[in-house]
Amino acid sequence: MTAGSDPDGRGERMTIETVGVVGCGLMGSGIAEVAARAGFDVRVREVDQAALDRGRSRIERSLARAVEKEKATPEERDEALSRIAYTTDLSELADRDLVVEAIVEELEAKVDLFRSLDGICPTRTIYATNTSSLTVTDMAAATERPDRFVGLHFFNPVPVMRLVEVVRTLATSDETAEAALEFANRLGKEPITARDASGFVVNLLLVPYMLDAIRQLERGVASVEAIDAAMTLGAGHPMGPFTLCDFVGLDTTYRIAEIMYGEYREARYAPPPLLKRMVTLGRFGRKSGKGFYDYGGEAPVPLPVV
Ligand code: CAA
Ligand code: NAD
Repeated sequence: MTAGSDPDGRGERMTIETVGVVGCGLMGSGIAEVAARAGFDVRVREVDQAALDRGRSRIERSLARAVEKEKATPEERDEALSRIAYTTDLSELADRDLVVEAIVEELEAKVDLFRSLDGICPTRTIYATNTSSLTVTDMAAATERPDRFVGLHFFNPVPVMRLVEVVRTLATSDETAEAALEFANRLGKEPITARDASGFVVNLLLVPYMLDAIRQLERGVASVEAIDAAMTLGAGHPMGPFTLCDFVGLDTTYRIAEIMYGEYREARYAPPPLLKRMVTLGRFGRKSGKGFYDYGGEAPVPLPVV
């Protein structure tokens, strides 16, 4: 990072060159991939070797797909892969200009992580969270650098979706917000700035829609397939709400609903009982092989929900 003569980097223009990504699941793998493709030096941290290997193969598959679709040349794929290093050791993020967190949607886990990072990263390092529904302030306030803390909310699948919500808290410095916007632009994304309200812009509108679809299913209005077909064919959505829930992850959708309901106490954010039952059974959607659909065969097959 270039931060002029100020040893702490505070109050100077900040340029990001090295990026740490914590969590290499659905989102972290996508964030690492787009950052590497944009030329950043990326280091990814996962909890153990098995999770790290799964994350690495997700990145490799996605880049292979980009080559197949002629969105990247084999040379660009190889260059991107060579820019990503993998570790299970958090202290290896000590030299990063920016650390983006994409771990499980739980405040306690995220706060623990950022507190550990405080003991590792110099004060110049900017922290970003990819949270869907927690308030960025709740994490920033737990660190020693709330001025250098920002929300960078990416969308799934990260290599395809163009939006990034850049979320400022009351404490985020102008320099940090500018560096985050510049980072999103360098990734080729279209950033918008949002205030730190749980759900920001997209999830405030999208989450009640997804939960309402489950409520309609509980009421027996139509089947999973019929509701999905209705919203793709009748409203032009790229995927129906159940395909989308499975795509996001039912475990994550459930946690998001709990958090947003806790924040707003409005029934539209409350997780429907069916969603809870499915998560309890380990039906997390596409990532676990079963959700509203079974992904074991060639094409997804709707599963019974009553
Ligand atoms: N990784 C990388 N690239 C992918 C991909 C993935 N996982 N999935 C699809 N793509 C690319 C393909 O390469 C393809 O590119 P071409 O058009 O050049 O061929 C393109 O995306 C379209 O893919 P497909 O033709 O295979 O499939 P599709 O037409 O059904 O599109 C989709 C797939 C882009 C995912 C589309 O269905 C879509 O936009 N779905 C809605 C996704 C959405 O709403 N995301 C937001 C979720 S909410 C969220 O992220 C916030 C949160 O906090 C929970
Ligand atoms: P995921 O379950 O696919 O991946 C989470 C990963 O984090 C797992 O691989 C887990 O091993 C790892 N992890 C947990 N604790 C860790 C730690 N301390 N250090 C390193 N790794 C750790 O979840 P996801 O869908 O990638 O979601 C991650 C974050 O992104 C959540 O905050 C979620 O709300 C948000 N988000 C999700 C989506 C989506 O569509 N799934 C979209 C936008 C934002």
